[in-house]
Amino acid sequence: MTRSHVAPDGSPVPVYLAMPAGSAPTTVHEAIAADADILELGCGAGRLTRVLVAYGHEIVAVDDDPRMLEHVTGAQTVCADIYRLSLRRRFGAVVVASHLVNRPDPADRARLLDVCARHIAPGGDVLIERYPPAWAVRPRDTVGSQGPVGVSVTIHEAGPAGFSATAEYTLAGRTWQQRFSAVHVDDDTMAAAAEAAGLTLVEWLDEARTWARLRPVGAG
Ligand SMILES: C[S@@+](CC[C@H](N)C(=O)[O-])C[C@H]1O[C@@H](n2cnc3c(N)ncnc32)[C@H](O)[C@@H]1O
Repeated sequence: MTRSHVAPDGSPVPVYLAMPAGSAPTTVHEAIAADADILELGCGAGRLTRVLVAYGHEIVAVDDDPRMLEHVTGAQTVCADIYRLSLRRRFGAVVVASHLVNRPDPADRARLLDVCARHIAPGGDVLIERYPPAWAVRPRDTVGSQGPVGVSVTIHEAGPAGFSATAEYTLAGRTWQQRFSAVHVDDDTMAAAAEAAGLTLVEWLDEARTWARLRPVGAG
Protein backbone atom coordinates (compact mmCIF):
# COMPACT_ATOMS: atom_id res chain seq x y z
CA MET A 1 0.00 0.00 0.00
CA THR A 2 1.11 3.56 -0.69
CA ARG A 3 1.91 4.44 2.89
CA SER A 4 5.18 2.51 2.98
CA HIS A 5 6.35 3.32 -0.53
CA VAL A 6 9.79 4.81 -1.20
CA ALA A 7 10.43 6.79 -4.41
CA PRO A 8 13.29 5.79 -6.75
CA ASP A 9 15.46 8.61 -5.34
CA GLY A 10 14.99 7.20 -1.81
CA SER A 11 12.38 9.71 -0.61
CA PRO A 12 9.80 7.91 1.57
CA VAL A 13 6.21 8.84 0.63
CA PRO A 14 4.81 8.79 4.21
CA VAL A 15 7.59 11.13 5.34
CA TYR A 16 7.01 13.70 2.60
CA LEU A 17 3.29 13.44 3.21
CA ALA A 18 3.68 14.19 6.91
CA MET A 19 6.38 16.88 6.89
CA PRO A 20 5.08 20.44 7.02
CA ALA A 21 5.93 22.69 4.07
CA GLY A 22 7.62 25.31 6.23
CA SER A 23 8.31 28.74 4.76
CA ALA A 24 9.15 27.64 1.20
CA PRO A 25 5.71 28.12 -0.38
CA THR A 26 5.41 31.62 1.09
CA THR A 27 8.90 32.51 -0.17
CA VAL A 28 7.81 31.34 -3.62
CA HIS A 29 4.41 33.04 -3.57
CA GLU A 30 5.83 36.38 -2.43
CA ALA A 31 8.48 36.28 -5.17
CA ILE A 32 6.18 35.73 -8.15
CA ALA A 33 3.18 37.44 -9.71
CA ALA A 34 0.01 36.81 -7.72
CA ASP A 35 -1.65 35.28 -10.78
CA ALA A 36 1.38 33.32 -12.03
CA ASP A 37 0.77 29.76 -13.11
CA ILE A 38 3.49 27.44 -11.78
CA LEU A 39 5.39 24.46 -13.08
CA GLU A 40 6.69 22.60 -10.00
CA LEU A 41 9.48 20.12 -10.70
CA GLY A 42 9.97 17.24 -8.23
CA CYS A 43 6.75 17.99 -6.34
CA GLY A 44 6.75 14.79 -4.26
CA ALA A 45 3.53 14.27 -2.33
CA GLY A 46 2.52 17.91 -2.88
CA ARG A 47 3.79 19.42 0.35
CA LEU A 48 4.53 22.80 -1.26
CA THR A 49 1.91 22.35 -3.96
CA ARG A 50 -1.08 22.38 -1.67
CA VAL A 51 -0.02 25.65 -0.01
CA LEU A 52 0.65 27.29 -3.37
CA VAL A 53 -2.76 26.12 -4.59
CA ALA A 54 -4.30 27.73 -1.48
CA TYR A 55 -2.52 30.96 -2.45
CA GLY A 56 -4.49 30.80 -5.70
CA HIS A 57 -1.88 29.56 -8.18
CA GLU A 58 -2.71 27.17 -11.00
CA ILE A 59 -0.07 24.44 -10.84
CA VAL A 60 1.29 21.67 -13.01
CA ALA A 61 3.15 19.38 -10.59
CA VAL A 62 5.73 16.93 -11.97
CA ASP A 63 7.33 13.91 -10.33
CA ASP A 64 8.54 10.56 -11.65
CA ASP A 65 6.91 8.58 -8.85
CA PRO A 66 3.18 7.92 -9.33
CA ARG A 67 2.84 6.92 -5.67
CA MET A 68 3.97 10.42 -4.68
CA LEU A 69 1.62 12.04 -7.20
CA GLU A 70 -1.40 10.14 -5.82
CA HIS A 71 -1.34 12.57 -2.90
CA VAL A 72 -1.12 15.80 -4.87
CA THR A 73 -4.41 17.66 -4.73
CA GLY A 74 -5.65 20.79 -6.49
CA ALA A 75 -3.03 20.62 -9.25
CA GLN A 76 -2.60 18.93 -12.60
CA THR A 77 -0.04 16.15 -12.17
CA VAL A 78 2.44 14.85 -14.72
CA CYS A 79 4.44 11.67 -14.12
CA ALA A 80 7.72 12.28 -15.93
CA ASP A 81 11.47 12.65 -15.58
CA ILE A 82 12.04 16.32 -14.78
CA TYR A 83 15.44 16.26 -16.51
CA ARG A 84 13.80 15.47 -19.85
CA LEU A 85 10.49 17.26 -19.58
CA SER A 86 8.92 18.95 -22.58
CA LEU A 87 5.32 20.08 -22.05
CA ARG A 88 5.27 22.58 -24.95
CA ARG A 89 3.80 25.16 -22.59
CA ARG A 90 5.32 28.14 -20.77
CA PHE A 91 4.55 29.22 -17.21
CA GLY A 92 4.71 32.42 -15.18
CA ALA A 93 6.96 30.57 -12.70
CA VAL A 94 9.02 27.38 -12.59
CA VAL A 95 9.83 26.09 -9.10
CA VAL A 96 12.57 23.59 -8.24
CA ALA A 97 12.74 22.92 -4.49
CA SER A 98 14.48 20.27 -2.42
CA HIS A 99 18.09 20.85 -3.58
CA LEU A 100 17.65 18.94 -6.84
CA VAL A 101 20.11 21.45 -8.30
CA ASN A 102 22.79 20.08 -5.92
CA ARG A 103 22.83 16.65 -7.57
CA PRO A 104 26.44 15.59 -8.19
CA ASP A 105 26.34 15.22 -11.98
CA PRO A 106 26.81 18.64 -13.64
CA ALA A 107 25.01 17.26 -16.70
CA ASP A 108 21.89 16.82 -14.53
CA ARG A 109 22.15 20.45 -13.46
CA ALA A 110 22.52 21.60 -17.07
CA ARG A 111 19.52 19.51 -18.12
CA LEU A 112 17.42 20.82 -15.23
CA LEU A 113 18.15 24.44 -16.12
CA ASP A 114 17.43 23.74 -19.79
CA VAL A 115 14.03 22.35 -18.76
CA CYS A 116 13.40 25.48 -16.67
CA ALA A 117 14.37 27.72 -19.61
CA ARG A 118 12.18 25.74 -22.00
CA HIS A 119 9.09 26.23 -19.79
CA ILE A 120 9.41 29.79 -18.51
CA ALA A 121 7.36 32.57 -20.10
CA PRO A 122 9.08 35.81 -21.11
CA GLY A 123 9.45 37.83 -17.90
CA GLY A 124 8.62 34.82 -15.75
CA ASP A 125 10.54 33.69 -12.67
CA VAL A 126 12.51 30.48 -12.25
CA LEU A 127 12.95 29.83 -8.51
CA ILE A 128 15.52 27.23 -7.49
CA GLU A 129 16.41 26.05 -3.99
CA ARG A 130 19.99 24.98 -3.21
CA TYR A 131 21.64 23.91 0.05
CA PRO A 132 22.58 26.97 2.12
CA PRO A 133 26.17 27.69 1.04
CA ALA A 134 27.37 28.33 4.59
CA TRP A 135 26.24 24.79 5.51
CA ALA A 136 27.16 23.05 2.27
CA VAL A 137 30.83 24.02 2.51
CA ARG A 138 31.04 22.66 6.05
CA PRO A 139 28.16 20.22 6.56
CA ARG A 140 27.64 18.91 10.07
CA ASP A 141 25.64 16.07 11.55
CA THR A 142 22.22 17.34 12.61
CA VAL A 143 19.36 15.97 14.69
CA GLY A 144 15.95 17.61 14.68
CA SER A 145 12.35 17.31 13.65
CA GLN A 146 9.95 18.70 11.09
CA GLY A 147 6.43 18.45 12.42
CA PRO A 148 5.85 14.82 13.39
CA VAL A 149 8.93 13.61 11.48
CA GLY A 150 12.27 13.14 13.25
CA VAL A 151 15.10 14.00 10.87
CA SER A 152 18.77 13.33 11.50
CA VAL A 153 21.56 13.75 8.98
CA THR A 154 24.89 11.94 9.30
CA ILE A 155 27.71 13.23 7.11
CA HIS A 156 30.00 10.49 5.77
CA GLU A 157 32.44 12.52 3.70
CA ALA A 158 32.75 16.23 3.07
CA GLY A 159 35.12 18.40 1.09
CA PRO A 160 35.12 21.73 -0.70
CA ALA A 161 33.24 20.20 -3.65
CA GLY A 162 30.44 18.45 -1.81
CA PHE A 163 29.41 15.79 0.65
CA SER A 164 27.78 12.40 1.06
CA ALA A 165 25.33 11.75 3.86
CA THR A 166 22.51 9.61 5.19
CA ALA A 167 19.23 11.15 6.27
CA GLU A 168 17.27 9.12 8.80
CA TYR A 169 13.56 9.80 9.17
CA THR A 170 11.35 8.52 11.98
CA LEU A 171 7.57 8.72 11.96
CA ALA A 172 5.01 6.89 14.06
CA GLY A 173 7.49 4.25 15.19
CA ARG A 174 8.92 3.63 11.71
CA THR A 175 12.37 4.52 10.39
CA TRP A 176 13.66 5.17 6.87
CA GLN A 177 17.18 5.88 5.73
CA GLN A 178 18.06 7.80 2.57
CA ARG A 179 21.66 7.92 1.44
CA PHE A 180 22.58 10.75 -0.90
CA SER A 181 25.44 12.82 -2.32
CA ALA A 182 25.41 16.49 -3.16
CA VAL A 183 27.76 19.05 -4.61
CA HIS A 184 28.19 22.58 -3.38
CA VAL A 185 26.55 24.98 -5.84
CA ASP A 186 28.19 28.32 -5.16
CA ASP A 187 27.04 31.65 -6.58
CA ASP A 188 29.37 31.45 -9.58
CA THR A 189 28.31 27.89 -10.40
CA MET A 190 24.65 28.84 -10.27
CA ALA A 191 25.24 31.95 -12.40
CA ALA A 192 27.24 29.99 -15.00
CA ALA A 193 24.70 27.16 -15.17
CA ALA A 194 21.91 29.71 -15.58
CA GLU A 195 23.74 31.55 -18.33
CA ALA A 196 24.43 28.33 -20.24
CA ALA A 197 20.66 27.72 -20.29
CA GLY A 198 19.83 31.25 -21.44
CA LEU A 199 18.84 32.43 -17.97
CA THR A 200 20.24 35.14 -15.70
CA LEU A 201 20.74 34.83 -11.95
CA VAL A 202 18.88 37.94 -10.78
CA GLU A 203 19.02 37.67 -6.97
CA TRP A 204 18.88 35.47 -3.89
CA LEU A 205 15.51 35.70 -2.21
CA ASP A 206 16.41 34.85 1.37
CA GLU A 207 19.09 35.71 3.91
CA ALA A 208 20.62 32.21 3.78
CA ARG A 209 20.89 32.57 -0.02
CA THR A 210 19.16 29.28 -0.70
CA TRP A 211 16.43 30.45 -3.12
CA ALA A 212 17.65 31.87 -6.43
CA ARG A 213 15.55 33.91 -8.82
CA LEU A 214 16.50 33.36 -12.47
CA ARG A 215 14.94 35.03 -15.49
CA PRO A 216 15.23 34.55 -19.22
CA VAL A 217 18.19 36.57 -20.54
CA GLY A 218 17.08 40.05 -21.54
CA ALA A 219 13.92 39.93 -19.39
CA GLY A 220 15.40 42.34 -16.79
C1 LIG B 1 13.15 15.07 -1.49
S1 LIG B 1 11.64 14.80 -2.36
C2 LIG B 1 10.92 16.41 -2.20
C3 LIG B 1 9.55 16.54 -2.72
C4 LIG B 1 8.95 17.96 -2.61
N1 LIG B 1 9.71 18.93 -3.39
C5 LIG B 1 8.91 18.39 -1.15
O1 LIG B 1 9.69 19.26 -0.77
O2 LIG B 1 8.10 17.85 -0.41
C6 LIG B 1 12.27 14.81 -4.04
C7 LIG B 1 11.21 14.43 -5.07
O3 LIG B 1 11.79 14.56 -6.36
C8 LIG B 1 11.37 13.47 -7.15
N2 LIG B 1 12.38 13.24 -8.19
C9 LIG B 1 13.68 12.94 -8.02
N3 LIG B 1 14.28 12.79 -9.22
C10 LIG B 1 13.33 13.00 -10.16
C11 LIG B 1 13.33 12.98 -11.59
N4 LIG B 1 14.43 12.72 -12.27
N5 LIG B 1 12.17 13.25 -12.22
C12 LIG B 1 11.03 13.50 -11.52
N6 LIG B 1 10.98 13.55 -10.17
C13 LIG B 1 12.11 13.29 -9.50
C14 LIG B 1 11.26 12.30 -6.19
O4 LIG B 1 10.39 11.30 -6.67
C15 LIG B 1 10.73 13.01 -4.95
O5 LIG B 1 9.32 12.99 -4.90
